[in-house]
Amino acid sequence: MTAPAGRGLEGVVASQTSLSFIDGLKGILMYRGYDIHDLAPNATFLESVFLLWNGKLPTQAELAGFEAELAAERALDPRTLDALRAVPSDTVPMAALRTGISLEGIFDPEGEDNSPEANQRKAKRLVARTPTMIGAIHRIRQGLTPLDPDPSLSLSADFVRMSNGEPGTDEAVAALDRTLLLYLDHGFNASTFACRVIAATLGDMHSAVTGGVGALKGSLHGGANAKAMETLLEIGELDNVEPWLEKAFEEKRKIMGFGHRVYKTEDPRATHLREMSKTLTEQAGLGKFYEMSRALEERMISQKGINPNVDFYCATVYYALGIPIDLYTPLFAMGRMGGWTAHIMEQHADNRLIRPRAEYVGEQNLPWVPIENR
Ligand code: COA
Repeated sequence: MTAPAGRGLEGVVASQTSLSFIDGLKGILMYRGYDIHDLAPNATFLESVFLLWNGKLPTQAELAGFEAELAAERALDPRTLDALRAVPSDTVPMAALRTGISLEGIFDPEGEDNSPEANQRKAKRLVARTPTMIGAIHRIRQGLTPLDPDPSLSLSADFVRMSNGEPGTDEAVAALDRTLLLYLDHGFNASTFACRVIAATLGDMHSAVTGGVGALKGSLHGGANAKAMETLLEIGELDNVEPWLEKAFEEKRKIMGFGHRVYKTEDPRATHLREMSKTLTEQAGLGKFYEMSRALEERMISQKGINPNVDFYCATVYYALGIPIDLYTPLFAMGRMGGWTAHIMEQHADNRLIRPRAEYVGEQNLPWVPIENR
């Protein structure tokens, strides 16, 4: 048997993809060949989803058609809403989302159909309905009635309305939309790989993305954006950054929102989120959290050589937008849903079961002992 791969499959190239390209040493990320630095300031989230799914940028007419198609698919199955009402109000929103997505798979008329055409339609329903579901989960837990989607609004604007009850400003909606674009796809990250493993058994799309939500929920992956904000709140003040960090180093604590398996330099998504965090926290009168973030970043780089990842500055962007902390990771899922579904379609289009080997390190050939003699 060949030597085992590095722990956590570090450095292993598991398969091919033409969806996103990452150069972790140079800090490059591209969706379908387009640099994230060109997409982030210029494209919308759904424009990037179209790009990822179709391999080309949409024309104006194509984008308008795509947005309208998804807008018509935003409403959840009423039975999913009924089930979400039965979820205890203190349930972690990511757990409610995982359950809701799974239920949508049961109620989807094409739930068991893995044909490319059905997969495309299901992918549209999933991207269109995730914002509605997060909004419903948030309102139900506050004892409020979930709001019906308004197809005249953009996906991001409608999410804000369905979770807050009020439409956000154009600037807030654009900022939220940009975070979704930045979260859209990222090679074989843990949740996407989980989706691909499930899809490769010829599992259906909803099963695969349910697994993806479960993988994203953990704090070493998508859960880090919420944990990063909790860290900043725990630190509390700019003057406290240095002593807090010294103690954290002593205790060998992981600083959430820092470090990355692939990037050994600036995460290109963090470049945009840092800028957004600066502007939005200043506008919201929360500039101290940006200053604290900068101080934390400087110390992490100078003392440990570890850069912030996508989740670090996203935390203060969402905080400045007034989003509840436990909705940060569901928002990551809302963006990544476009990537997960793209990977499932790519996997199904050229499938082979994903089934690695394990190096067995346990005992062997032990003598059998009858139960009465143990
Ligand atoms: N805080 C403090 N030290 C960190 C760190 C962090 N966030 N991330 C990595 N390190 C240190 C490790 O302690 C380790 O040091 P050592 O060699 O002295 O033991 C070294 O850097 C390598 O880290 P390792 O845990 O092996 O890296 P990994 O590739 O397995 O893990 C992450 C990558 C992302 C899971 C890890 O950086 C992490 O836990 N980050 C915090 C969670 C997070 O932000 N996740 C979102 C990722 S987008």
